[in-house]
Order: sequence, then C-alpha cells, then structure tokens
Amino acid sequence: MTQTVRKVVFPVAGLGTRFLPATKAVPKEMLPVVDRPLIQWAVEEAAAAGCNEFIFVSSPHKRAILEHFSPAPAYEEVLEARGKHDEMALLQAGLPENAKITEVFQDKPLGLGHAIWCAREAVGDEPFAVILPDDMVLHGTGCLSQMVEQYEQLGGNLVAIEAVPHDQTQRYGVLDPGAETGTLVAIKGLVEKPAPADAPSNLAIIGRYILDPQVMEDLSAFNKGAGGEIQITDTLANLIGKLPLHGYKFQGQRYDCGNRVGFLAANLAFALSQAGAGGQSGLGENLGPVLRDIMGTYL
Ligand code: G1P
Repeated sequence: MTQTVRKVVFPVAGLGTRFLPATKAVPKEMLPVVDRPLIQWAVEEAAAAGCNEFIFVSSPHKRAILEHFSPAPAYEEVLEARGKHDEMALLQAGLPENAKITEVFQDKPLGLGHAIWCAREAVGDEPFAVILPDDMVLHGTGCLSQMVEQYEQLGGNLVAIEAVPHDQTQRYGVLDPGAETGTLVAIKGLVEKPAPADAPSNLAIIGRYILDPQVMEDLSAFNKGAGGEIQITDTLANLIGKLPLHGYKFQGQRYDCGNRVGFLAANLAFALSQAGAGGQSGLGENLGPVLRDIMGTYL
C-alpha cells in the first residue's frame, strides 16, 4: 500500500478570458455552479478524498479565492447573534476542520507544468493530487476519491481519462494506450494537444491527477512543449519507465466548465442532482448523457 494523498494543488492563476466580461473583476474559479463557486466544488471533492492541505497556485489579482476560504468574522458575529447555525456552517466553504491552506503565486503564465512546479515547496516529498476546477465530475463518489482508491494499489502517477470525440483531441493530453485492465489503462506514451490526425488515440486526460513528487525535478528543466508552455503531460511522458503511469476511466459525467455551454450544463445537472437528494435521486446523473448529447452540437 502506498502513501495516502494529503495534499492537493489547484492551479488557479489563469485569466479566464473565455468568460469575459464576467471574469474581469471576479476570478473564473469564483463563478458559481448552483450555490457555490467552482473552486469550492473542487475543494470539497479533495476533502472527500481525504486531503487536508490545500495549495492554491494563484495570482495576486485573484484575492477573492483566498478570501472565500478565510474566516468571515463580520458574518459569523451576525449569524451567531441570530442563532443561524446552519448558515454558519456554510461559512466553512467546504473546508474540513483540520484544513491547512497555502497560497503560492505563479508570476508568469508559463503553462500547467510550471503552475505545478510553483507548488514544489508546499508539496515537499510526498504524493499529491492536482485538480483543475474547470473540469467537474458528477458522481456520488467524487472522481478524486475514486482515484485515491486506485492509487493506493498502484503508486506512480495516475491521471483521470475519458474517451473524447476524435475531432477534439487538440484540446487535451492524449494517451498512447497500453494494456487495459478494467477501468485502468497502462500508458505507453502521451501527447499534449495533438491534431486529430496525429493523436495516438481518443483517450484524453481530464483535470485530475495524482502525482509522484519526482515530477518536480523533471518540471524544473523548464522544457517548453505544446503552445510554447511547460506541460505536465510531457513530464509524465518523460517519467514512463521510471515510474508507473496509469489512466483511470472514472465513473460519472464530466462537464467542461471552461466553456459556456459546459458551464451551463453543469449548473443544470448539479442543481438537479442536489434536488434529487431530496427524494428523486439520480435526476442530475441521468440527465448527464442527454445534456452531453445536446451540448456536443454547441461545443
Ligand atoms: C490541461 C492539460 C491537458 C488536459 C486538460 C484537461 O489543458 O494540459 O493535458 O487534457 O487540461 O482539462 P488545458 O485545458 O489547461 O488547456
């Protein structure tokens, strides 16, 4: 059994230009899906998976994110005086009692690999998770919890994967798949954002990773890849042969909240899923494939 995953990194320094003007003053990670910001969904998923150290790779322009996870004494005082204890619990913003929060800044937009490297001191010498809050997965057992269970048997590096339409491979890190065992795929190679004609498969990485701290050393070479950026995908490919690398076909429906229709669909599915918790369980989950079909036309 490998070490458990206590730390999670959230790369949140990006500008979110696709949602302008909404993201001019409000970070994109603070856009609400139903009743909580995207970043809180990500934090809750990590907490449910057992993480208690939350590392935000952020930018000085995005104070609202840290503010959201800080104590709010003015609110607390008023709610306490009014005896509103349920509302007071909401001020925890999904953090567990023993949470530790660390913020580091990514001073230049040099890519996802660089963002992860910026967290190297906070991560230290233990395995850690990375969640890209744009990618939301709706399932009773969070995507990261599912991955932690797999990781405990596998070690190495583990990424969440799903089959994407062949004409969309240029948006993702794409696998050259090896042997497949149930929901696990051994990875022989990886290519970041290949054109469909060059893609080794249509199995793509989505925004969940469990990584060995050895990735930091490879990232520190600052090699530029697709789009002139430092890519975690390239580092994972470089470490094949040194560390096990697996793709995990997660359960649940993924919503890409980095685009408008995906964001809207996530709002519908998560709202219905919450409503379902009151008796019609499965409503949001069942809607997933339908929304996915409709959305496909608009993506
Ligand atoms: C990043 C990764 C890519 C991955 C994707 C998942 O790309 O570089 O490998 O498939 O997230 O959402 P980005 O969406 O930041 O361009």
